[in-house]
Amino acid sequence: MAIPSLPLADGGSIPQLALGTWELTGSKCVQAVEAALELGYTHIDTADLYNNHRDIAKAISGRVRESFFLTSKVWHSNLKGPDVLKCAQRFLRELNTPYLDLLLIHWPNRGIPLSSTLPAFEQLLAEGKIRHFGVSNCTPRHIADIRKAAPDLPICCEQVEFHPMFYQKELLEYCKADNLVLEAYSPLGRAQELKRSEIAQIAAKHDKTPAQVVLRWELDLGIVPLPKASSRAHLAENLDVFDFKLDEGDKRTLESLPQKRLVDLPLLGDFNYQ
Ligand SMILES: NC(=O)c1ccc[n+]([C@@H]2O[C@H](COP(=O)([O-])OP(=O)(O)OC[C@H]3O[C@@H](n4cnc5c(N)ncnc54)[C@H](OP(=O)(O)O)[C@@H]3O)[C@@H](O)[C@H]2O)c1
Repeated sequence: MAIPSLPLADGGSIPQLALGTWELTGSKCVQAVEAALELGYTHIDTADLYNNHRDIAKAISGRVRESFFLTSKVWHSNLKGPDVLKCAQRFLRELNTPYLDLLLIHWPNRGIPLSSTLPAFEQLLAEGKIRHFGVSNCTPRHIADIRKAAPDLPICCEQVEFHPMFYQKELLEYCKADNLVLEAYSPLGRAQELKRSEIAQIAAKHDKTPAQVVLRWELDLGIVPLPKASSRAHLAENLDVFDFKLDEGDKRTLESLPQKRLVDLPLLGDFNYQ
């Protein structure tokens, strides 16, 4: 089944399931992205930090550019306007693509004024080098500050850690009310809790795997999970999530699991996060 899309605040749309590529580099990355595209994935998530743009370029070469959605991210130390422009230019070269579908601020940086950062993203949109703008690891306060600093710049996505073991319900409600698509990173909780009996029981009931149950729950919430997988078996499994439904009891169970954040934001104090 084709992957559905969600509407974006700027009138565009985004495929609702992506391949995450953190920790995929070299031939492992090329093979995983090639396999994903063959299997029917239409959305690849990368970042400057992942050091795999050139590998992804190999995997997408020869593909019709409009047939897939490509996201990258600018790291927090490169958020001065001229640096954003230089990064974007380099990303296009490294990825061998005329445009990025989505470019995100990877982490906010209070040390660099938004009045420097945001005009660069506006310029990239106007020049057609990026199609959509978004953020990652931002709080509602950061998002409000961005809106205030650049009222005409549509913020399409907020990419954050999100999985049943870190169910950010309030942030999701905020994103929905503010017309932002929430992208779920580490959507499988890095596979650390997939063997939990509560998830295994739901999976057995639907004749699906724990990973498929977790992804189905996220899709039902109207968000975009970005599962990373390196084997063809995992890639295929994570795509095979469009032919079953969770019931209300399943959802209640998934929404009451013990909570544990994987990416520890307080540790990132030196990024001027607050
Ligand atoms: N914006 C940010 O700051 C940020 C931060 C973290 C991540 N991300 C993005 O989100 C993506 C996903 O997050 P993540 O990589 O942290 O974690 P994840 O997608 O939750 O988990 C990846 C792990 O799950 C395993 N896995 C995949 N499919 C599976 C399946 N069907 N059954 C069992 N295990 C399975 C993978 O193993 P194999 O590789 O062996 O298949 C890998 O060990 C990243 O790749 C990146 O694109 C963004």
